[in-house]
Amino acid sequence: MTKNLTDICKQASNVAKRSILDLFSTPQRAENFSVSAARLFLDYSKQNVNSIELTELCAWAQKSDLTEKISDLFSGKKLNNTEGRAVLHSVLRAPDAVKEQVLKDDSAEVLQTEKRMAEIVDGVSTGSLMSASGKKFTDVLAIGIGGSYYGIKVGLTALQPYNQTGLNVHVLANIDGGAVQEKIDKLPVDSTLVIVISKTFTTQETLLNANTIKKWMCSASSNENIINKQWFAVSSNVAKANEFGICSEHILPMWDWVGGRFSLWSAVGLPLALAIGNEGFARLKAGAYSMDEHFQTAPFDKNMPVLMALLGIWNRNGLNYPSLAILPYDHALRALPGYLQQTDMESNGKSVANNGDKLSWQTAPVVFGQEGTNGQHAFMQLMHQSDDIIPTDFLLAVKGSSEFTEHHAILAANCFAQSEALMQGKSLEQATTELLKQGIPLEEAHALAPHKVMKGNTPSNTLLLDELNPESFGALLALYEHKIFVQGILWQLNSFDQWGVELGKELGKKVQSLMNGDVNEKLSDSSLSLINRFNHSNHKLILIIN
Ligand code: F6P
Repeated sequence: MTKNLTDICKQASNVAKRSILDLFSTPQRAENFSVSAARLFLDYSKQNVNSIELTELCAWAQKSDLTEKISDLFSGKKLNNTEGRAVLHSVLRAPDAVKEQVLKDDSAEVLQTEKRMAEIVDGVSTGSLMSASGKKFTDVLAIGIGGSYYGIKVGLTALQPYNQTGLNVHVLANIDGGAVQEKIDKLPVDSTLVIVISKTFTTQETLLNANTIKKWMCSASSNENIINKQWFAVSSNVAKANEFGICSEHILPMWDWVGGRFSLWSAVGLPLALAIGNEGFARLKAGAYSMDEHFQTAPFDKNMPVLMALLGIWNRNGLNYPSLAILPYDHALRALPGYLQQTDMESNGKSVANNGDKLSWQTAPVVFGQEGTNGQHAFMQLMHQSDDIIPTDFLLAVKGSSEFTEHHAILAANCFAQSEALMQGKSLEQATTELLKQGIPLEEAHALAPHKVMKGNTPSNTLLLDELNPESFGALLALYEHKIFVQGILWQLNSFDQWGVELGKELGKKVQSLMNGDVNEKLSDSSLSLINRFNHSNHKLILIIN
């Protein structure tokens, strides 16, 4: 009989103490517990799972409605049930014929937008599209936050060596004036193209940042056409973008069936395309598309996103591990942990099922990480020696991107060593023997040894990219998108809304009005006293505490 999530969890909890190392006594485990797809290679043999359990996990996924939901995803069913929207970002990277078939009436506007995007990239990079004062653009500033920022940021950092246009592309997300000042200090007014990216065009951070940059540009330039010529927008709210002062020909549309955190493939990717060129952007999409094809066609036991999702559920629900470390051993992938924090935690950080029932299992893990080897000299101490087991995804490009091959070999050695160390650990006996071998007296060795014990048995995936290029990077993003999708389906929740961010926005407005003297808003004494302290230092109105 096929097991359900509860049975699977029970079974997994019985194996938590099992040694992952011992699982390698099964011949060819490394070979059997690995899979290749779309230029990526995944080794999952260091997970605490055996082939019977894996078969049962796949059978569970098979018995669920996952197959049907995958086809619903790609055919445009309204999977985002709380907002009544389809989830079709992946079709944006499919060939035109697929777009026409799936998007039907919307396909004409999509193809037109892609054409327009390509013209902008060509125009800016060749210099036929010039600034208000007739200069060739040297810089691009993308203003946006959340999904209108993270994908661009991770793409710009990952594909920096593929910059084809020579343009310096910058991103501004945080509402902090310090972040704005940093851009103002380095941007040349007369040759900077600005793109405001906001699906709703109502996001406070983006609008304030855009207004401040606009004021600065208008005051620093005597050219009254500066906004008309140098400003673009990407939004589904054309009226608001117009109202802001961006002319209609400079507004590229977004559609309600593209969620913010999955929107890099739409015109939101324009700043990235302005760096890597049209060809680079097409290669990025082609890489993602090959992962889409793999995801739709590979059997679950050979399907990279499905396997990663199932192993994640095994770790999260079965073994009860609440976090996930993302450790790219690649300086160019340093923005990936931040990007995945949004895609994973904003998608699946929920506790209510699609139908509104309270879920009786945990969902998204707390995702964190940073580039290796930096993390080794920081939080990895806790990963080795605290009682918390933190499943980890290691990422490495086989071929390095710099000419410093020695660095790349040592980087790779560290990556492989860390996954081994997290799995092997070090017992008290081993630690004591080592100390004695070093000539430490017995009593001292016994006192010191406990401090040198490492728990080990930490499960990890290792993802190898042939090299980091637009195709493999596109495939990597699509892999994680699909992994998150599969987990959302199996956890029975809606991965495509984000109501959890709303309360903070509402209270943010109330706090703002309180700070400006409206004493009718109710807040805790703690917050009121903090506001008073802030206002006092800023010579503003002091409130009376409740
Ligand atoms: O953080 C909430 C959120 O709605 C994200 O999902 C979204 O990507 C971001 O804000 C920015 O929204 P917009 O593109 O509408 O400015």
